[in-house]
Amino acid sequence: MNFNGGVLLFSKFINNKDADSKKSVELNPARIPNHIAIIMDGNGRWAQKRHLPRIAGHKAALTTVKKITVAASDLGVKVLSLYTFSTENWKRPKKEIDFLMSLPISFFDTFVPDLIKNNIRVSAIGDMEALPEDTKKAVKRAIKQTAENSGMILNFAINYGGRAEIVVAAQRLAQSVVNNELDISQITDKVFAKALMTGKLGEYSDPDLLIRTSGEERISNFLLWQVAYSEFVFSDVLWPDYNPQTLRENIYEYQNRNRRFGGLKKE
Ligand code: IPE
Ligand code: IPE
Ligand code: MG
Repeated sequence: MNFNGGVLLFSKFINNKDADSKKSVELNPARIPNHIAIIMDGNGRWAQKRHLPRIAGHKAALTTVKKITVAASDLGVKVLSLYTFSTENWKRPKKEIDFLMSLPISFFDTFVPDLIKNNIRVSAIGDMEALPEDTKKAVKRAIKQTAENSGMILNFAINYGGRAEIVVAAQRLAQSVVNNELDISQITDKVFAKALMTGKLGEYSDPDLLIRTSGEERISNFLLWQVAYSEFVFSDVLWPDYNPQTLRENIYEYQNRNRRFGGLKKE
């Protein structure tokens, strides 16, 4: 059997749910995805399985966020984008929304020292203006407190929707045309990407790897433009149960994909 066959077999083995999940996977340090985006899903189901209120799942989710942030930074990831609240999540009961909105306050208070220790910089995308004042303040404070850090960017998508993001970018560009600052012919892929909320991430604006937990296989309005050539990995693990080992397994799966970008397979 050739070497590739061996790798494939190994990959099959680690994806087998009966396999010992404690088995450490050998990652190729030269192929760590620069930008990982995660749709952190399954908090409610995690709580319901334990006969707890849904908000207990959201609380448990924060511990996972902290662990995964440090693990991604240790692996050499450049940008970690986390979907925390979608423009559609306002449809949920007020009690749940209020709880979700209160989370960033305690979260950042306890986590910023660790972020500073790990040289991680906080960033955010989404419509911050619609957030309650205290939530907005907590996010802005964390961005400021970590602004000097030069390591991984921890990018929170809060009140974020991919369609809204594209509409806002189109409005901004249209305004520049009206102001005679821009000619319609100058609106290229590159210029459009720069006008999106992820424009500030520069060369890392597009995720290399998009992970969704909890077994759902849909995009739910996350980074619609940016995922054009991302690799998608769907994990059955509910977000509060997700851990650095699951992350390594998902990156391992990514490393065994062949990214072609419309070209031909690299041998
Ligand atoms: C993801 O978990 C967190 C948010 C969307 C805020 P859910 O709350 O969607 O959990 P499930 O999908 O109901 O299990
Ligand atoms: C997507 O999860 C949003 C976040 C994880 C923040 P949802 O649970 O809101 O998505 P749907 O409703 O199942 O598509
Ligand atoms: Mg969900």
